[in-house]
Amino acid sequence: MNVGIPQTPSRRIAKQFEDRLRSAPDRHLAARMSRLVSAIAKLVEEERVDRADLRALIRFATEVGHASDARRSEWVLLADTLGITSLVEQQVTRRPPGATPNTIAGPFYRTEAPARRDGESISIDGIGEPLVLTLQISDLDGDPVADALIEVWQANADGVYENQAPDLQPDGNLRGRFRSGDDGRVIVRTVRPKGYAIPSDGPVGELMKRLGLSPNRPAHLHFRISAAGFETLTTHLFDSEDPALDADPLFAVDPALVIRFDPCGAGGYETSHRFILARAHPGYEDT
Ligand code: BEZ
Ligand code: FE
Repeated sequence: MNVGIPQTPSRRIAKQFEDRLRSAPDRHLAARMSRLVSAIAKLVEEERVDRADLRALIRFATEVGHASDARRSEWVLLADTLGITSLVEQQVTRRPPGATPNTIAGPFYRTEAPARRDGESISIDGIGEPLVLTLQISDLDGDPVADALIEVWQANADGVYENQAPDLQPDGNLRGRFRSGDDGRVIVRTVRPKGYAIPSDGPVGELMKRLGLSPNRPAHLHFRISAAGFETLTTHLFDSEDPALDADPLFAVDPALVIRFDPCGAGGYETSHRFILARAHPGYEDT
């Protein structure tokens, strides 16, 4: 047996590919591509991929490309719904035990949300069931984090974000920027969020249908919390009563982010939540 020659076709292809990249100018790309080709070749062999499989895969990738344009990226949706986006997010924003988990931001974040005072409402059109959120921003020792910037955004009662359909809602509806007080607290008035479906009219939606996967995201609010000396926290809070909680197509649900909306007053709800920030460490870059 020749010990220098890999024994399976997949290993031979992987080895040849690696050898050909020996003098690649981009070393990092070459190393990554080498590992990728090796992993794919192994999978092709293990799964006994045939010509029809390969044609179907190429057809799917072509459709995903055709469904993408400047306003909609079907490729991003594919990465999201396969859990890759959430996995990358978790890897690049590791939090110490006890800190609030980071999640994906999603495509509807806007930097230019209206500045709001403590206790103000972010609902400009007033449509929906009133909700009062009492938020506490703390560090890992339980001490308050004062003057944190709390950005919040959510979909309306029809599950639509203001920047998704700008003619249907007032500019800046259901998004706002708040500051925590000296006690780390802030009160946000809004309306109870409703769940919504991610776009499912393209090839990714078709794939999900064939796999029996639901496009419904559980009802949630989005937050981005930043404060000097702390890692920026991008996260969600999810409604504990939403039936879609166990099957979020974007894999963002974490038990620490699930809250109950308690009835209060006439048709309204209230809840409180503590966000725990991790201290920034040197060289750490977060967005
Ligand atoms: C969102 O939760 O806002 C969202 C995230 C990714 C894709 C679609 C929507
Ligand atoms: Fe959302």
